[in-house]
Amino acid sequence: MKKQYPTIFLFFSFFFLFNYSFSLDPIFESCVPKDCGDGINISYPFFIHDIQDPNCGYPGFELHCNNRSTILQLPESNFTVKHIDYNKSRIRLQSSMFTSNRTDHCLSTIRNITSDPNRFMIDNNTTTKLYSISSCSSNVSRVLEKYRNRLCENEEYVMVKDDTNFKNLTDGCGRGGKIVAMPVELGGGGVVDGGNYTKVVEKGFDMRWRAGDCDVCETSGGRCGFNRTVFQFRCYCPDRPHMVSCKPGKIFRFLLFCTH
Ligand SMILES: *[C@@H]1O[C@H](CO)[C@@H](O)[C@H](O)[C@H]1NC(C)=O
Ligand SMILES: *[C@@H]1O[C@H](CO)[C@@H](O)[C@H](O)[C@H]1NC(C)=O
Ligand SMILES: *[C@@H]1O[C@H](CO)[C@@H](O)[C@H](O)[C@H]1NC(C)=O
Ligand SMILES: *[C@@H]1O[C@H](CO)[C@@H](O)[C@H](O)[C@H]1NC(C)=O
Ligand SMILES: *[C@@H]1O[C@H](CO)[C@@H](O)[C@H](O)[C@H]1NC(C)=O
Ligand SMILES: *[C@@H]1O[C@H](CO)[C@@H](O)[C@H](O)[C@H]1NC(C)=O
Ligand SMILES: *[C@@H]1O[C@H](CO)[C@@H](O)[C@H](O)[C@H]1NC(C)=O
Ligand SMILES: *[C@@H]1O[C@H](CO)[C@@H](O)[C@H](O)[C@H]1NC(C)=O
Ligand SMILES: *[C@@H]1O[C@H](CO)[C@@H](O)[C@H](O)[C@H]1NC(C)=O
Ligand SMILES: *[C@@H]1O[C@H](CO)[C@@H](O)[C@H](O)[C@H]1NC(C)=O
Ligand SMILES: *[C@@H]1O[C@H](CO)[C@@H](O)[C@H](O)[C@H]1NC(C)=O
Ligand SMILES: *[C@@H]1O[C@H](CO)[C@@H](O)[C@H](O)[C@H]1NC(C)=O
Repeated sequence: MKKQYPTIFLFFSFFFLFNYSFSLDPIFESCVPKDCGDGINISYPFFIHDIQDPNCGYPGFELHCNNRSTILQLPESNFTVKHIDYNKSRIRLQSSMFTSNRTDHCLSTIRNITSDPNRFMIDNNTTTKLYSISSCSSNVSRVLEKYRNRLCENEEYVMVKDDTNFKNLTDGCGRGGKIVAMPVELGGGGVVDGGNYTKVVEKGFDMRWRAGDCDVCETSGGRCGFNRTVFQFRCYCPDRPHMVSCKPGKIFRFLLFCTH
């Protein structure tokens, strides 16, 4: 008689476990990290358009899949995602201008990024600006010829923000020139010219993001998300959405009690 209790407990434990693991909340299941085929796992605050529920991510953090690449579409330009560090809230981006097989690499066609500072920040400690100077109204000195973009048919010059020849070039260009800037990662004092600037563009650059912290929810076994209807952070848990963290429910406590 004494020995029967553990058997009954075991039976009920299995029954509840079985029941529990096969009735996961659909939103919890749909927020499982996915990728575009490039191995970059996408989860909160990001979500993949048409692949993950928009409630799995934060508004403005939508990513797209294109030919097995992950793409971030900003209003001014599209970027290929190269890496995401969820712990440091950093996303590494590369101008998709150099990942598509375009032969025309005129930087003057890009537009300055005006990122929403409430979402993304370009870290000016690690990035500098690559300038494209074009539409000159006067002839640029032959001395500055090395800055001429060799991959662009039009007259266009490229250099980094702190280049000592910047003023000479813009003056020589006749001040009427069109200037656009692209963030690049280049150690202090580094320079580029019209022949090797693609090396730094291809390396990409990091942006930091701002979004509600996911740590508490994630360590409790949940998946973070954002309910668009109520416009609030949610911690999606196996049983149902919670506000912050998946607190053990009654069944869990019962099981924990039994196994101790
Ligand atoms: C993506 O997630 C899978 C499954 O959790 C894991 O095996 C893989 O290492 C992850 N990839 C990266 C780049 O973190
Ligand atoms: C898709 O990507 C592969 C390699 O990543 C590339 O070789 C191919 O040209 C791309 N296709 C298109 C249509 O861009
Ligand atoms: C980004 O890519 C999408 C889809 O290919 C395209 O519709 C959009 O115009 C692109 N945006 C820019 C700024 O090039
Ligand atoms: C992120 O942090 C967690 C714990 O805080 C750790 O287990 C994990 O390895 C870290 N991931 C990376 C890529 O640093
Ligand atoms: C890219 O390359 C593929 C095959 O190499 C070709 O079919 C496609 O037209 C190219 N796209 C552009 C925009 O040049
Ligand atoms: C840049 O560096 C300064 C000082 O080292 C630091 O206070 C600041 O937070 C850094 N900015 C970013 C965006 O990391
Ligand atoms: C970064 O930008 C901020 C404001 O835009 C500025 O105050 C700060 O001096 C900059 N830091 C560096 C290292 O350029
Ligand atoms: C630029 O140089 C060309 C010949 O090298 C000359 O014909 C033209 O007048 C010059 N233009 C200006 C604005 O100086
Ligand atoms: C830059 O301009 C200054 C003053 O006009 C001139 O002395 C110097 O030689 C120029 N440097 C180059 C590389 O053209
Ligand atoms: C782009 O930004 C650079 C400096 O960051 C500025 O000099 C230039 O005027 C801007 N161009 C446009 C078209 O806004
Ligand atoms: C580009 O070439 C110049 C020489 O013209 C060199 O000083 C510079 O270090 C090179 N930059 C890179 C990123 O390779
Ligand atoms: C968002 O919240 C509303 C109202 O509480 C609820 O009806 C809806 O199911 C929630 N959506 C998700 C994806 O949790």
